[in-house]
Amino acid sequence: MTTNIYTAKNKQDNNMDIVKKINELKKERNAVILAHCYQPGDIQDIGDYVGDSLGLCIQAAETNADRIIFCGVRFMAESAKLLNPAKMVLLPDKYAGCPMADMINAEDLRNMKKEHPGSVVVCYVNTTAEVKAESDICCTSSNAIKVIESIPKDKKIIFVPDKHLGQYVMDKSGREMILWPGFCPTHQRITTQNIIEKKEQYPQAKVLVHPEASKPVRDMADFIGSTGQIVDYCRDSETRSFIIATENGIIHQLRKLNNGKTFKMASDISICPNMKKITLQKVLNALENDEHQIHLDNELIEKALIPIDKMMALN
Ligand code: 13P
Ligand code: SF4
Repeated sequence: MTTNIYTAKNKQDNNMDIVKKINELKKERNAVILAHCYQPGDIQDIGDYVGDSLGLCIQAAETNADRIIFCGVRFMAESAKLLNPAKMVLLPDKYAGCPMADMINAEDLRNMKKEHPGSVVVCYVNTTAEVKAESDICCTSSNAIKVIESIPKDKKIIFVPDKHLGQYVMDKSGREMILWPGFCPTHQRITTQNIIEKKEQYPQAKVLVHPEASKPVRDMADFIGSTGQIVDYCRDSETRSFIIATENGIIHQLRKLNNGKTFKMASDISICPNMKKITLQKVLNALENDEHQIHLDNELIEKALIPIDKMMALN
């Protein structure tokens, strides 16, 4: 027991030292730290900006910093590079990927386009730069409906790769779309039984669900939105307790911003292992040694930027 307390105290002191070094180096190297709200709490706490995929894209596009330390997963860091190619974009863990983004590649999409000629391809931002380069317009979970509504009604739409977000957008917009059968393994773990059990414990709580969750779970929601929209909803709501059906990192942000409100995760296992790969030590390594830079060739940047720019123009 004594050893455990001693070890925990050592770890805390060590983390404080690392945070101090990160803050010093950040100034020296003119770096900005962008963190997604699924990141571990200690990473969110060192973020200059913490938000959802769209918010992070906007920050990356607008920053004056020389280096962007991207605390998230690869497709997010790639999007930052596409939006601001002159900057050095660093992903502190080069293996922080997204299994959903890897469920479709450029060749898959080219084949799909051949099967449905003349379709408009909408790609969720959770895709590789190569898949973006084959797409017409990008979307995030916060602007997907707006993006679909911007497409002329007589056009067929291919939506990749998230079948759950795709189905949600179809239900909301009334537009038929051809869906790629991808999904987020983390959100897929959330079940209706999870919500039923939490509702029994907290009957007054509002149920907030991310659109990457399955339809039966979404059907139990009081509110469906991106992580940023969930954070805003909780901030502005008169309600005092919430059941949250998305990745568990968001709870850190929600508790930090909302004194006196109660937040319960719908599922204890909706944890994205890739989002948790970033650590304070790896952020420090990124700052000290410029590890690990995102490199995309110019031709790819040119092509993949088109659908992102179209999305950004809608905001
Ligand atoms: P948002 O950031 O748009 O809420 O998307 C969540 C997500 O899955 C990021 O990987
Ligand atoms: Fe990908 Fe899901 Fe993890 Fe987001 S939460 S990075 S969509 S696996």
